Amino acid sequence: MSELQVIDQKYIPRVKLSNGESIPAMGLGTFGSDKYGADIVSEAVYGAIKEGYRFIDCAAVYQNEDKIGGVLKKIFAETDIKREDLFIVSKVWNDMHRRVKEACLKSLKDLGLSKLDLYFVHWPFPNYHAPGCDGDSRNPDSKPFSVEEFMDTWRQMEELVEEGYVRYIGMSNMTVKKLEAVYGLCRIKPSFLEMECHPAFQQPELFEYAKSLDIVPVGFCPIGSPSRPERDRTSDDIAATEMDVIKEIAKAHNVHPALICLKWAVQRGVIPIPFSVKEPQYHSNLECITTDPLTEEEMESIKKADKDCRLIKGQVFLWQGATDWRELWK
Ligand SMILES: NC(=O)c1ccc[n+]([C@@H]2O[C@H](COP(=O)([O-])OP(=O)(O)OC[C@H]3O[C@@H](n4cnc5c(N)ncnc54)[C@H](OP(=O)(O)O)[C@@H]3O)[C@@H](O)[C@H]2O)c1
Repeated sequence: MSELQVIDQKYIPRVKLSNGESIPAMGLGTFGSDKYGADIVSEAVYGAIKEGYRFIDCAAVYQNEDKIGGVLKKIFAETDIKREDLFIVSKVWNDMHRRVKEACLKSLKDLGLSKLDLYFVHWPFPNYHAPGCDGDSRNPDSKPFSVEEFMDTWRQMEELVEEGYVRYIGMSNMTVKKLEAVYGLCRIKPSFLEMECHPAFQQPELFEYAKSLDIVPVGFCPIGSPSRPERDRTSDDIAATEMDVIKEIAKAHNVHPALICLKWAVQRGVIPIPFSVKEPQYHSNLECITTDPLTEEEMESIKKADKDCRLIKGQVFLWQGATDWRELWK
């Protein structure tokens, strides 16, 4: 599982993939949640890389890849950090499923790179909604999940690997049923699966299924996304950092509950990608996974406390006539 390796005088845990390559055990999220603009997010990427982050989770729809590209250029010019030291991720947005190469080339151009380490299909629906739209908005062209359409997109992802534009490809926002339906059809198998994952929403079946297929889970909203946009909030939502078990363990370790969520993720075998633009936060987020691990009993009590509470419901991707967001997750 994870092993310690010295980078820049700091101990940054890395996870070994089955092909022998090791990659960082934690990444930095870059979705500003409609709250933090591109300048602030890219400045945080700069600071975080200098602190030791090496895995950066980008996406075209976050509308900041060009600014992050500027920061990467600065990092390469000012420091000893080289391109191959970083693991840079991007994702094809829903309106580009028929033009994946064009989307990938745009992300590469914006990021100032010739190759991505990992490229995800961001959502398994070609259902577009404008960035920042409200939760009730619906696109009349939206459709339910289709294996044929998804595989058409996946074939284009495979071509990106063959043409040398990306090293690994992955899927995001999948379910066990959807992954089962497409996995056997993939010529190049997904290496990573980005999934919502925090103590209040652990997705044990999807996690185990991914592991059984040798797919590495990447956990988004690992702290329970306290700054997520209004459209992604409902009155039933449970905050991971407010769960009794998390607060108790945080007290025992004398740290913020957010850090317990991150320790738990890494020890479980998920690569968490916490977002923060605040230096003390992104510093302690990275540091916490190198010290004072959770005990087996603590890991077990968090496991038992799963609330099966999905925060990113994706209701804006529903098609006309569908009213319940659970339709998306069948
Ligand atoms: N594939 C997908 O569909 C998908 C979906 C969602 C997210 N993502 C990715 O996952 C990343 C992370 O998700 P997220 O940003 O929604 O949620 P998150 O990482 O769970 O939460 C981020 C927020 O937690 C707070 N925080 C961070 N570190 C903290 C600390 N040490 N102590 C206290 N509070 C702390 C900050 O809130 P304040 O800023 O208010 O202090 C920060 O904005 C995204 O940035 C994006 O890259 C992917």
